Amino acid sequence: MSAANVVRLQTAAMRATATTRITVEALDKRFKNATADVVAVDNVSFEVKQGEFVALLGPSGCGKSTILNMVAGLLPKSGGRIRIDADEVVHGAINRKVGYVFQRDTVFPWRTVEANIGYGLEIAGIAKPVRAEKVARAIATAGLAGFEKSFPRQLSGGMRQRVALMRTLIMEPEILLMDEPFGALDTHTKLEMHKTLLEIWERERQTVLFVTHDLGEALTLSSRIILLSARPGRLKEDFAVPFDRPRDPVALRGSEEFSRLYSHIWNSLGEEFRRTKA
Ligand SMILES: Nc1ncnc2c1ncn2[C@@H]1O[C@H](COP(=O)(O)OP(=O)(O)OP(=O)(O)O)[C@@H](O)[C@H]1O
Ligand SMILES: [Mg+2]
Repeated sequence: MSAANVVRLQTAAMRATATTRITVEALDKRFKNATADVVAVDNVSFEVKQGEFVALLGPSGCGKSTILNMVAGLLPKSGGRIRIDADEVVHGAINRKVGYVFQRDTVFPWRTVEANIGYGLEIAGIAKPVRAEKVARAIATAGLAGFEKSFPRQLSGGMRQRVALMRTLIMEPEILLMDEPFGALDTHTKLEMHKTLLEIWERERQTVLFVTHDLGEALTLSSRIILLSARPGRLKEDFAVPFDRPRDPVALRGSEEFSRLYSHIWNSLGEEFRRTKA
């Protein structure tokens, strides 16, 4: 048996024994528009295990944000079930195990970098010295040293997104939901962000559900890719991403195994991009 197959079997065995953290069963979402109902999500089921990094991949408008928002309890579902651990997700209820990084840049423009990053701890009533220490550590991790007192308008888009990421991570969520957090960044900055995120994740192993329409990003970061069809979002395929860790995003992208898996999934994803355009 080849080394790659041994790794694949070991990964499968680990998955089989790991606890399930996110369960989505027969999830549906319809939006009522002025003229007609839009079916955004149709009968989607999947699970995310403890410590998995799962990418939810699909073309624009296929329902990725809608699914993530329902998992976060930010949006009511039309049908199906969602559980975080054993608990049913209730629309509007906050789950302290879950952190969310939004698709749009959501830092507070009136707060400095350190006040943005420390926001959640402040709301949670964490004592100032403890907060200051955690914020300093987060700033160092994100490579934002020297910008503690800067306001978001004085930062680049990539730096603002680092602030948004650290503001969520500082709360130490066990489960991290991320909606194309690097979608608006140029390729170089995106790769830098991938490096930062991988370093953090490889250390802390949060359970991650990461939405993206960028196949390269999904392959760089995730352990598994759930591919959705064009709208209405249906589960199309589920791919294992068995690349070794720790990963170096730049070296990985230049590797043969990366190109091979990219081409393989691209065939399936490309079909959905074309259906979106049709
Ligand atoms: N509040 C809403 N009211 C009506 N329709 C909506 C609403 N939110 C989303 N939709 C529709 O649901 C579908 C899925 O939208 P969603 O935002 O989940 O897509 P997405 O996969 O996240 O796309 P993108 O990659 O562009 O962010 C789209 O057709 C969109 O028009
Ligand atoms: Mg979206």
